Amino acid sequence: MRFSLSHVLAGALMGIAGVSAIPQQASSAVSSTSTSSPSPSQTSSSDQSLVCNNSPVLCDRHYNDITYMGAHDSAFLRDASTGNSIAGNQYLNATLALDAGLRLLQAQVHNENGTLHLCHTSCGLLDAGPLENWLAAINDWVVGHPSDVITILLVNSDEVNVSQFAAAFQQSGLSKFGFVPQSKIEWPSLRTMIANDTRVVSFITNIDASSAAPYLLPEFDYVFETPFTVVQLDGFNCTVDRPSNAGTASEAFGSGFMGLINHFKDQEITAGLIIPDTDNILLVNSANTTTTGNLGLHIQQCNSQWNHRPSFVLVDFWDQGSTVKAADNSNGINQVTGRTNATNNSSSDSSADGTNQAREFGTGALIAFLAATLLMI
Ligand SMILES: *[C@@H]1O[C@H](CO)[C@@H](O)[C@H](O)[C@H]1NC(C)=O
Ligand SMILES: *[C@@H]1O[C@H](CO)[C@@H](O)[C@H](O)[C@H]1NC(C)=O
Ligand SMILES: *[C@@H]1O[C@H](CO)[C@@H](O)[C@H](O)[C@H]1NC(C)=O
Ligand SMILES: *[C@@H]1O[C@H](CO)[C@@H](O)[C@H](O)[C@H]1NC(C)=O
Ligand SMILES: *[C@@H]1O[C@H](CO)[C@@H](O)[C@H](O)[C@H]1NC(C)=O
Ligand SMILES: *[C@@H]1O[C@H](CO)[C@@H](O)[C@H](O)[C@H]1NC(C)=O
Ligand SMILES: *[C@@H]1O[C@H](CO)[C@@H](O)[C@H](O)[C@H]1NC(C)=O
Ligand SMILES: *[C@@H]1O[C@H](CO)[C@@H](O)[C@H](O)[C@H]1NC(C)=O
Ligand SMILES: *[C@@H]1O[C@H](CO)[C@@H](O)[C@H](O)[C@H]1NC(C)=O
Repeated sequence: MRFSLSHVLAGALMGIAGVSAIPQQASSAVSSTSTSSPSPSQTSSSDQSLVCNNSPVLCDRHYNDITYMGAHDSAFLRDASTGNSIAGNQYLNATLALDAGLRLLQAQVHNENGTLHLCHTSCGLLDAGPLENWLAAINDWVVGHPSDVITILLVNSDEVNVSQFAAAFQQSGLSKFGFVPQSKIEWPSLRTMIANDTRVVSFITNIDASSAAPYLLPEFDYVFETPFTVVQLDGFNCTVDRPSNAGTASEAFGSGFMGLINHFKDQEITAGLIIPDTDNILLVNSANTTTTGNLGLHIQQCNSQWNHRPSFVLVDFWDQGSTVKAADNSNGINQVTGRTNATNNSSSDSSADGTNQAREFGTGALIAFLAATLLMI
């Protein structure tokens, strides 16, 4: 794939954030996907104590009938480790995201001198290190959380052969948890996946399915996405953007696709230069369903238009706003256990004008970033 400068920058800079948690009644728990009741064999008294993905309610729900809140560009941090790079889309890393209840991690992978690295647009801009190391950290979390099912979504930017991904998954330990779907349409319950200890669903773009690593799934065989690079609060919608062969949303669901909502807002600060819109962070990452641009509203609209519960949602700066609450509302759950609230130390350290400081820093970093980018090109 080739990118224009503006696309390179847009890709590098997507992000958004928001603050505040709004307690809210479950508002978009409708779903027409399978809601089969548990079979008698699955409801022994010991099983009834099982908590799946933080809620007993989710154990007997099928994998594709659950909304997973996801961290967009989850490996690309805007924190001390990257010098607060504005190419970072998250303040807190993927382990903290999982701790907080997110169950989808997305990132971009590049071929850096023959090794797969997590890089944002280019390894010269933001290199978050070898994929294998990051997967190993995820593996540690999965090992320590035996009744959680997570999803990984990797963008294979350099169209590397699936066998290289398989090597990284194997070395990290994560491959042993890899789930292999038996059907595109019939997904098992979380209970079944947990019982089988096949608790990691891994989607990768630009790969062919491989019999050597059947748990590495070509994303667009299974998932369709709504548009991204949204720059207006009223620009979020539920239209199928990718893959082009999925058809309408109705057709896509008819052939077994799951829906992914891209919900991060950018702003164009000068012609062709698009960066994350942090000014509207509170609104965009809010579980509220009242205001145009709200995360909760977007999920509710897609649920209603699709007549299916959205499976995946991607947000930037997930610790801002009430992103996990939005997924809980979509899933119709309100009693959850086993989550820890994220601590954003940089914010607790800053005084009342911390936001302005962050913005000023952002401008300086932007200039440095632009200079670096132009030099590279
Ligand atoms: C997140 O940071 C913690 C603390 O530094 C570290 O232990 C963990 O491995 C990190 N997780 C990832 C996915 O990088
Ligand atoms: C890849 O090679 C280039 C050119 O030799 C070098 O600048 C870069 O640091 C290397 N990257 C890694 C991750 O080793
Ligand atoms: C990937 O590599 C395998 C061998 O490791 C090969 O059989 C396959 O054709 C390759 N796939 C592509 C798309 O090049
Ligand atoms: C569970 O594991 C068994 C044995 O590996 C396998 O045959 C079965 O297909 C798995 N079930 C699901 C739903 O993955
Ligand atoms: C959804 O947004 C995309 C991108 O802005 C746009 O092309 C498409 O027409 C929109 N869909 C509807 C139904 O408005
Ligand atoms: C969410 O809605 C509540 C009540 O309608 C309102 O008080 C709150 O300010 C809203 N929060 C955001 C971030 O819009
Ligand atoms: C996390 O935050 C929520 C909302 O502020 C609060 O109700 C809950 O008790 C907190 N959980 C922990 C473990 O601190
Ligand atoms: C915040 O600081 C506390 C205490 O030093 C530490 O335990 C925690 O890991 C830090 N959180 C993050 C996200 O860095
Ligand atoms: C988290 O830290 C970032 C970076 O300092 C800051 O911009 C953001 O406002 C903080 N979050 C909260 C909730 O204050």
